Amino acid sequence: MRVLLGVTGGIAAYKAVFVLRALREAGHRVRVIPTEAALKFVGRPTWEALSGEPVATSVFDGATGVDHVALGRSADLVVVAPATADLLARAAAGRADDLLTTTLLTVTAPVLLAPAMHTEMWQHPATVANVATLRARGVTVLEPDSGRLTGADTGPGRLPEPEAITAASLALVAPQDLAGRAVVVSAGGTREPLDPVRFLGNRSSGRQGAALALEAARRGARVTLLAASIDEAARTSAQHPAIDIVEVETTAELADAVDSTCAAADVLVMAAAVADFRPATTADRKIKKDGSAPDVVRLVENPDILATVAGRPRERLVVVGFAAETGDHDEVLELGRAKARRKGADLLAVNAVGSGKGFGDVANAVTVLDSDGEQVGEVAGSKQDVARGLWDLIAAQLH
Ligand code: CTP
Repeated sequence: MRVLLGVTGGIAAYKAVFVLRALREAGHRVRVIPTEAALKFVGRPTWEALSGEPVATSVFDGATGVDHVALGRSADLVVVAPATADLLARAAAGRADDLLTTTLLTVTAPVLLAPAMHTEMWQHPATVANVATLRARGVTVLEPDSGRLTGADTGPGRLPEPEAITAASLALVAPQDLAGRAVVVSAGGTREPLDPVRFLGNRSSGRQGAALALEAARRGARVTLLAASIDEAARTSAQHPAIDIVEVETTAELADAVDSTCAAADVLVMAAAVADFRPATTADRKIKKDGSAPDVVRLVENPDILATVAGRPRERLVVVGFAAETGDHDEVLELGRAKARRKGADLLAVNAVGSGKGFGDVANAVTVLDSDGEQVGEVAGSKQDVARGLWDLIAAQLH
């Protein structure tokens, strides 16, 4: 997606750097259009380096002189953060006195403005009228946060946090087919302690689960992410105002968390790699090399969370599982079919793992089966692409 990020001259301009980074990390091309005043707060090299695109402030900066028309037409989304009182006034009046306002007049894509200014300026009748005009035209104007402003004053006028701006912006272009839904996603890998410092676990990073949680949140769902030792990248990517992260460690803890959250949920996605076995006993002190260490670690089987939830009578909960299998394409599919029938989940996303595939890498390919083992879809690409494709299939089950 092509995003235009307008930045105007307020002290909060530095926070737009984080909005730019988040949009880039979500895989979008971002063209930054600062005003002259914005460049007094954050310089052109920062915007150019972080966006990887040229940065201009005036219509006369481009070689052809019609950059604003091309920019406006090609944009899928426009975000202005921070939007000063002056920008709101110029946009409301339809002024075209710099590249940003000129571009705003040529845009047909959704526009989000994130205002930041002193409380008096935000509450001034002129600004109130400008915001009303812009909203009446279909522009999304965020409410500023309340809190400490520059200097000693406090009150409404703070720029909302970069994550909130990014989330609200991307929600403008995402289908809102999960609005009002409650979704539970498990991610990562459960760990079973052998002693206070050691555990049996697996290599799951939690990134696919985090991508699923984020995609659901963008589509309007309230999401509980049951995080079983997910890595930092997964945790960072799941920062969204609609996502609650609940930490779990063992399979038993995950099972409890699934039980308590699924009672009121519409969808459970079990993306976590669950430890199937746990040590029969856990040493309460560190196991030493002093001859007391056991030769054999006896394991007992953990409950199958997915099969248990899928097998219970349920009215509205849609249950989705993942199957990680090794082998060639046909073997993986055959194992997946058997697992789909055994587990009874409404959908089972089957993917090949091992030898560098599936765990922590970028590209991914999954075949989606129903509870009879019949193929209902295939999705491939980045973990974000897989998340999008999978939610398309899950949303179809909800309607
Ligand atoms: N799962 C679960 N509880 C378990 C084991 C797995 O809920 N004790 C879930 C996983 O979260 C995943 C699905 O079941 O959604 C399949 O996991 P996978 O590890 O592929 O299957 P296993 O049940 O471990 O089967 P097998 O060991 O035969 O491959």
